[in-house]
Amino acid sequence: TTSELESYLEFGIHLAKLAGPVILEGFNSRFSPERSALLVKKGNTADLVTEWDQKVEKLVRAEIAEKMKDHSFIGEETVAGGEECGLTDAPTWIVDPIDGTTNFVHGFPFVAISIGLTINQEPVMGVIYNPILNQLFTAAKGQGAYLSKIDENPREQGKRLPLSSPHPALPLPTLSMALVAGEYGSDRTTEIIDPKVRSMRNLSAREPSSLAPGRAVGHAHGIRCLGSAAMNMMALAQGQVDVYWEVGCWEWDVCAGIIIIRETGGVVVDGCGREVTDGQLLTGRRFLCVRACSDEKGNTSPEATLAAQT
Ligand code: IPD
Repeated sequence: TTSELESYLEFGIHLAKLAGPVILEGFNSRFSPERSALLVKKGNTADLVTEWDQKVEKLVRAEIAEKMKDHSFIGEETVAGGEECGLTDAPTWIVDPIDGTTNFVHGFPFVAISIGLTINQEPVMGVIYNPILNQLFTAAKGQGAYLSKIDENPREQGKRLPLSSPHPALPLPTLSMALVAGEYGSDRTTEIIDPKVRSMRNLSAREPSSLAPGRAVGHAHGIRCLGSAAMNMMALAQGQVDVYWEVGCWEWDVCAGIIIIRETGGVVVDGCGREVTDGQLLTGRRFLCVRACSDEKGNTSPEATLAAQT
């Protein structure tokens, strides 16, 4: 129900308030002599986890277990620790304690906690909080998306997304006028990285490539990689980039972002253009986000955005 969703959103904001100061403390102490001790290597040298990721996830998970007793939990570090957590129809909190861990380690300020909630495997509530820039993005299904500061009431003091000014929801530009976000991701094996490099090349080059004959698609205005799926998605939710695509993200990277984008009137689709509203596509690791577009009457909605894609 609407009031249940409102209370989950309030609880999601409460979790962000708990986690924010811890993330900030870690971010600010990263140049201390113990810095190297904070780093633990995961799968490879481009896939980092710090003790702060683990600390924040533990904190958030314990709070959810205490206050939302019947709910399930999926967290990046819990899964990395080997725990089985498959997605079920139960209300499930899907959390990335620090999205943009590489940014966190280097002091690049696009770092956020991403807190999503699914019910019947559909993302219905999302909170993304960047404590370094003090940006809180929130949405619940059917209730709109907002950008505020952490100590503000999103609806009363925040801004509704997409921003009506200075970025009205314009018609989707052609690719040659679009600002596109994308990431190389942390899997740097040849079979993964080569197609990504080719896609970046096709998005940038004026001339066809000998690597992909006939595939020059008209270069985009530019390509941006913010180093955090959540932050790329929130740049799109604000109307700062037109498209964001990534292959390889996990459900905790995108769950909160999906509902926030959808509530702005944008869409997130999989590799075949199907809107990501169920568990299978949510865990499918292929995502293309398109920012909100308006129809000819000026209405902004996911349907108008999907129609503009075709
Ligand atoms: C990663 C970041 C990165 C994206 C990866 C994610 P993490 O999350 O969002 O930008 O390219 O796909 O897994 O490891 O920093 O939580």
